[in-house]
Amino acid sequence: MDKILVTGGLGFIGSHTVVELQNEGYEVVIIDNLSNSSIEVLDGITAITGKMPTFEKIDLKDKLEVENFFQRHNDVKGVIHFAASKAVGESVNEPLLYYENNISTLVYILKELKKLPEASFIFSSSCTVYGQADELPITENAPVKQAESPYGNTKQIGEEIISDTCKVTPSLKAIALRYFNPVGSHESAKIGELPIGVPQNLVPFITQTAIGLREQLSVFGDDYPTPDGTCIRDYIHVVDLAKAHVIALGRLLKNKHKSNYETFNLGTGTGSSVLEVINSFEKVSGKKLNYKIVGRREGDVISAYADTTKANNELGWKAQLTLDDAMRSAWKWEQIAKGR
Ligand code: UD1
Repeated sequence: MDKILVTGGLGFIGSHTVVELQNEGYEVVIIDNLSNSSIEVLDGITAITGKMPTFEKIDLKDKLEVENFFQRHNDVKGVIHFAASKAVGESVNEPLLYYENNISTLVYILKELKKLPEASFIFSSSCTVYGQADELPITENAPVKQAESPYGNTKQIGEEIISDTCKVTPSLKAIALRYFNPVGSHESAKIGELPIGVPQNLVPFITQTAIGLREQLSVFGDDYPTPDGTCIRDYIHVVDLAKAHVIALGRLLKNKHKSNYETFNLGTGTGSSVLEVINSFEKVSGKKLNYKIVGRREGDVISAYADTTKANNELGWKAQLTLDDAMRSAWKWEQIAKGR
């Protein structure tokens, strides 16, 4: 079976994707620098799949290390590139860190893939490239809006770098996957989201509040022009998201793609408000959540949810799991998560 490199393969979405790749029989090599992940995730992946993936602790900012890796693994057929920094607020304070972590590393990998006779590349992009879209649900043709943060900008620039490279490199096939809001964890609760420090994202903040690690959840604004006044997002179960990566990779490996650079939205197609997410959590956990409505958070868009027609038709992929499934698995994971 084909050998696939997964960068950032010990992170939240990366680890779930490694599980799905191994379930499909792919040989997986993980590169991770452990900057925002833990080596124990390798045990979780092994416990679920019965197979330990190869792991190399490499920092992709080290160009020579990247070259050296591809010299040793010149039989890599595909790369799923998750490794990146993703905290929006931090990126505002440390832009150069974000440009180095998210852009230099991408360039170094693409330079190596250019040397191969054929290579397939999957890029972690984000619905953040659309900003506040003028029309909902958001299709892939919606215009890319001026980025709100250096983090968002790295996703836009990343897509442009890949697109420009593909234009002049017929041997390179690439897909950028624009994730909406990934949540939940594997049903085994052997892997999940492990935010370092205070979580910035809604779902880990909810589960940490419910378990007593945080005192109270702040709901950022209830005066938005939405049915209940809170912001609307498209929360997609991380296992559904992981499966989409395997399907997208298969599309490239089997040469089913229509162009050597494609983009797909990955969401459920359904928008949920912050209060609906809290309700779902309370329903599946049987716990009352301590929350308070506070002022709006700077930079939040009002509403974002995906038009999934392209992914449904072209990839033959559709999200199967519900928001309740995601909240149930996130809560199960929170209750047994180690390493805190
Ligand atoms: C954010 C990033 C996005 C990134 C994604 C995943 C921004 C503008 N976007 O998406 O680029 O890809 O995370 O890392 O930051 N909320 C609360 N209280 C909280 C936390 C969140 O009410 O304590 C609300 C937010 O206002 C928002 C919703 O919950 O309406 C989801 O927030 P969050 O999980 O941070 O994701 P996004 O902001 O959508």
